[in-house]
Amino acid sequence: MNERMTFDRDYLAEAQTLLAHDERFPEGAVVPPIYQTSLFTFADYSEMADTFAGRSTQPIYSRGNNPTVMEFEAKVAALEGAEAARGFSSGMAAISATVLAFVGAGERIVAVRNCYGDAYRLFERFLPRMNIKVDYVDGSDIDAVAAALPGAKLLYLESPTSMMFELQDIETLAALARQQGIVTTIDNSYATPVFQKPILHGVDLVLHSASKYLGGHSDTVAGIVAGSEDNIRRINEQTYSYLGAKLSPFEAWLLLRGLRTLPLRLPQHMKSGLTIAERLKCHAQVERVNHPAWSNHPGKKTLAGYAGLFSFEATEDTDIPAFVDALKLFKIGVSWGGHESLVVPAKASLEQTPGTNSMARFNVSPRTIRFNVGLENVEDLWADIAQAFEKSRK
Ligand SMILES: Cc1ncc(COP(=O)(O)O)c(C=O)c1O
Repeated sequence: MNERMTFDRDYLAEAQTLLAHDERFPEGAVVPPIYQTSLFTFADYSEMADTFAGRSTQPIYSRGNNPTVMEFEAKVAALEGAEAARGFSSGMAAISATVLAFVGAGERIVAVRNCYGDAYRLFERFLPRMNIKVDYVDGSDIDAVAAALPGAKLLYLESPTSMMFELQDIETLAALARQQGIVTTIDNSYATPVFQKPILHGVDLVLHSASKYLGGHSDTVAGIVAGSEDNIRRINEQTYSYLGAKLSPFEAWLLLRGLRTLPLRLPQHMKSGLTIAERLKCHAQVERVNHPAWSNHPGKKTLAGYAGLFSFEATEDTDIPAFVDALKLFKIGVSWGGHESLVVPAKASLEQTPGTNSMARFNVSPRTIRFNVGLENVEDLWADIAQAFEKSRK
């Protein structure tokens, strides 16, 4: 198995200096101040007029721009190799504002199946009100995507997907979309720009739930989208200000603090995740492990590493509720990307959501269990899993 791909550029090395080094902040502070202010006043009439006319970049009001938030946006843009980025109060705010900025009433989206649950629910429950249709495709199948694309406005990718870990060849798909004038977006929350930089492969807009690895400490809910100046301006003008789901300065400050250790955390999540995934593969109560490390799909070529999130299918002779309940270090919870290990049984989380049938629709086995491997000692984590298997064998 190729634990870490060889790339022309060392994303991890680049991120280390980028995230640990800052220009000088006011008074020589090494950490940016939290601009906990709703508005910014002007010295005189002409300064106000210049700012409103776009001749000055002075912030006006924190629903638009705030210097602490801008610091976070600049870091993520630089990490992603993007010209610009826009922070949001949640990953879902970033996703909905981005989609709605590029797709109008009566238009169509092509999305990968098994995309994040609330993105799916946005597509299934909210967008139909605007007569926006979403076609789901097996994103790992280039022909299936190519067949669905003609006439679409937006291609929505998530590689790998965050429950089944299906990969997409993002370079080929983005090129196909571009030929037809279709905007490509990707949810890059799993890989982060330390392990995947979709913009370098032709993707137009990169979305993140910053609540995951970017923040990394399970203390913040936030989102961000990165892309070209033109595309981010379009989001600003079409949806960002009016939907109003802005990122708060304190959350941005927490995210900047979390980001500084991203290049340290991610390799550790990868190492522990791979150790546990490899042992699960050999365990008698495991049918299969869904981890991109063992995929032969070409979508793997843009991944410089793997995060600590993956799923597996337990055998018929495993009582899944008993397994989940027996775990002590893995807490039962839906988010991921933080310091703590978490477990999600797919059946309890996906099937029980009223009005959603994504499990049946997209062929997710009810025996699927997802692990977020945290930063605890990996042998402690494995001992926890081993005892839970024993207690849950029928
Ligand atoms: C893959 C993925 N994308 C997007 C989101 C949404 O992000 P948020 O919870 O920050 O709105 C999540 C949240 O769990 C997620 O797992």
